[in-house]
Amino acid sequence: MADAFKDQVLAGKVAYIAGGSSGINLGIAQRLAAQGAKVAIVSRSQDKIDAAVKTITDAGGTAWGTSVDVRDYAGVETSLAATRDKFGEIDVLVSGAAGNFLAPVVGMSANAFKTVVDIDLIGTFNVFRACFDYVKKPGASLIAITAGQGTHPMMFQAHACAAKAGINMLTRVLAMEWGPAGIRVNGISPGPISETEGMQRLAASPAAEAALKGRIPLRDYGTKRDIADMALYLASDNAAYITGAILDVDGGSSLGDASPNALTPPKR
Ligand code: COA
Ligand code: NAP
Repeated sequence: MADAFKDQVLAGKVAYIAGGSSGINLGIAQRLAAQGAKVAIVSRSQDKIDAAVKTITDAGGTAWGTSVDVRDYAGVETSLAATRDKFGEIDVLVSGAAGNFLAPVVGMSANAFKTVVDIDLIGTFNVFRACFDYVKKPGASLIAITAGQGTHPMMFQAHACAAKAGINMLTRVLAMEWGPAGIRVNGISPGPISETEGMQRLAASPAAEAALKGRIPLRDYGTKRDIADMALYLASDNAAYITGAILDVDGGSSLGDASPNALTPPKR
């Protein structure tokens, strides 16, 4: 596949990826590192971080990581300071840590709801709020990983819907407050992405997968590379005039149900 980006488009840049030890966010970390960024990866499990870092260093990139729970503000700030000490001021920051499970509201304790909101929304607040003193001003690009749940209600997803909607508004407010400082703040809203924990949890069976694909305009799941490419674009100088945008990378999923029988035209 031809690559729209020139080589080493992020040479000399520093990226911090919250929740970067697996899935979509690891795909972003790998893509940014392959384009020259020095990458810091944080999540809870040091074992997962070590394995993620190894995938990048084995490929010739520069990466380092440390264990942080994004619900712990002081821990987040310590990891940002450590990243700056190690690599220099942060140019690109991705907030992608998340938790999810399918549960109806009556099957969800107050703590279950709070847990997802704490990881997704409060975690994103913590990462964004704490990074202000550690990112390059002007020039930094902040990216929240949100989801369709933030704009479209979804049954059994009350916690994630509330959290991602909050992330979308936080992203827009920060874009307004921090634009004058030269900090851009955007969101990426992935559609269903293959070979991820998120899709494992939401559409585990082949029947559910086939039904879901049949409703997507482009008729397939996306890939981690699709999301990484958008993150690379937002991280690059090409996106210098984009802020406050929530960009759908979803094969058209957010447009609605595109299955042939969603609306049958009248016979004429
Ligand atoms: N249905 C209903 N409630 C559930 C649940 C489920 N499937 N899974 C967890 N909960 C509840 C727990 O019972 C607990 O509530 P309680 O104290 O009232 O019993 C609460 O959620 C917190 O669970 P706990 O396991 O203590 O939280 P944690 O902080 O250790 O883990 C999770 C967070 C639950 C989100 C866990 O699944 C996780 O770590 N996920 C990360 C990976 C992931 O979700 N990836 C997909 C990203 S889209
Ligand atoms: P994933 O592999 O489970 O990624 C979640 C990451 O967050 C993991 O690295 C996890 O590592 C980390 N994490 C979880 N709780 C954390 C905490 N409290 N503190 C710090 N790190 C934490 O899932 P994914 O499916 O790739 O999802 C990645 C992002 O994309 C999420 O924001 C998700 O909402 C979004 N998204 C996914 C899809 C999809 O199709 N998969 C669609 C739309 C949006 P540890 O376990 O080490 O903490």
